[in-house]
Amino acid sequence: MKILVIGSGGREHAIAWRLAQSPKCTQVIIAPGNAGTGLEDKIINVNITKVDELVAYAISNNIDFTIVGPELPLALGIVDEFRAHNLKIWGPDKFCAQLETSKAFAKEFMIKNNIPTAQYEIFDNLIDATSYIEKHMVSRLVIKADGIAAGKGVLVTDNKNEALDFLNDIFEQKIFGEQNSRVVIEECIDGIEASFIVMVDGNTIIPLPSSQDHKRLLNDNKGPNTGGMGAISPSPILNDQLSSEIMQRVISPVINGMKNQGHTYTGFLYAGIMVDKNQQIKVLEFNCRLGDPETQAILMRLESDFIELMEHGVHGTLNQITPIWSEKHALGVVLCHPDYPYKTSTPLLISGLNDINNDNTIKVFHAGTVMKDNHVYTNAGRVLCVVGLNEKTTDAKSLVYDTIHKLHFQDMQYRTDIPFDYRK
Ligand code: AMP
Ligand code: GLY
Repeated sequence: MKILVIGSGGREHAIAWRLAQSPKCTQVIIAPGNAGTGLEDKIINVNITKVDELVAYAISNNIDFTIVGPELPLALGIVDEFRAHNLKIWGPDKFCAQLETSKAFAKEFMIKNNIPTAQYEIFDNLIDATSYIEKHMVSRLVIKADGIAAGKGVLVTDNKNEALDFLNDIFEQKIFGEQNSRVVIEECIDGIEASFIVMVDGNTIIPLPSSQDHKRLLNDNKGPNTGGMGAISPSPILNDQLSSEIMQRVISPVINGMKNQGHTYTGFLYAGIMVDKNQQIKVLEFNCRLGDPETQAILMRLESDFIELMEHGVHGTLNQITPIWSEKHALGVVLCHPDYPYKTSTPLLISGLNDINNDNTIKVFHAGTVMKDNHVYTNAGRVLCVVGLNEKTTDAKSLVYDTIHKLHFQDMQYRTDIPFDYRK
């Protein structure tokens, strides 16, 4: 079979790598991919990103089905476009994707469908948002840019000046783009976060193994929020009871709520959950795709044939399959450009990649990498994600950090405390 994967990050490298391991795979085409995907057996990169060109490519190359990695194509309505051309694609349509592409839509949807979440207010101008901060900033608050912002559109702070600067950045400086002109301001809730991701084919829901992200840039959970600096799977806090509660109180209400609005949710659905000290859950965010770097850890644990699983997804027959996952623990650490997450990065030469024997227990996934004159260079903020799999998290951790010590680029930045103990 020929599968098209859309995206260029570590998540997409992991998806393509797992698909390519299936005996059913003839070829995985990744658009646009990165240096790492271009080096894999049975995977080729094609440099296409526009939706109409991807449609044309899928038609003329007899692609069996397409998997969408990141949120941007979903926000642009790629699923609606592919389906209009009778092409099989995995992901939610543009309407359902608003759960991720608009924080305000997501909050209103949660209230309407009785899904537990933090108290909030929505503002569409600087004056009202500023006066809210002036009046209500007695303790920590969370400010969220409404639209997509690559994991960087959220500020958690108890500092009034920092809050006002962030509002100014959004409304005046437009750092997240012209169209990003609303904010959600919400109460700050305490607890431990977990990532809960499911596959939905319109009827059947299959939960993937739980995971935990590390959003802050620096050790000890300090520094700004990022797209994610490391992940472990399973999550240390989601037991069976909490998982079934999330299915009942969060995931099913999303699918049913969408149905009530005339839309069938298909694709991956990611709920970012906060679990407080009384084991109460609240939704922090929804994503309409797999997480990055959670996917790299989760897929390391997949023992079933990934193409077969995804085929059941796109054909609406998930009720006929039960995927098998390794009981082992996966741990991934992201290696970043020294400028991440603040600005566009200058290319840096990466060395050591050839000294690593990638296999099903240790794997270096590429994200922001590009091949130039037979050398691999950085070309974005998050560069590589090294994932290890072992019976114990501590052994997976040693495997990962031993591997990281063989890799080098100038001022390589990464956390040395994954997995962080959130209970301390
Ligand atoms: P989001 O993109 O909405 O998940 O926000 C990014 C990160 O900000 C989350 O993973 C949390 O670490 C933090 N965060 C978001 N909302 C809240 C909240 N209401 N209370 C505390 N932390 C939050
Ligand atoms: N790692 C969080 C996300 O993918 O949104």
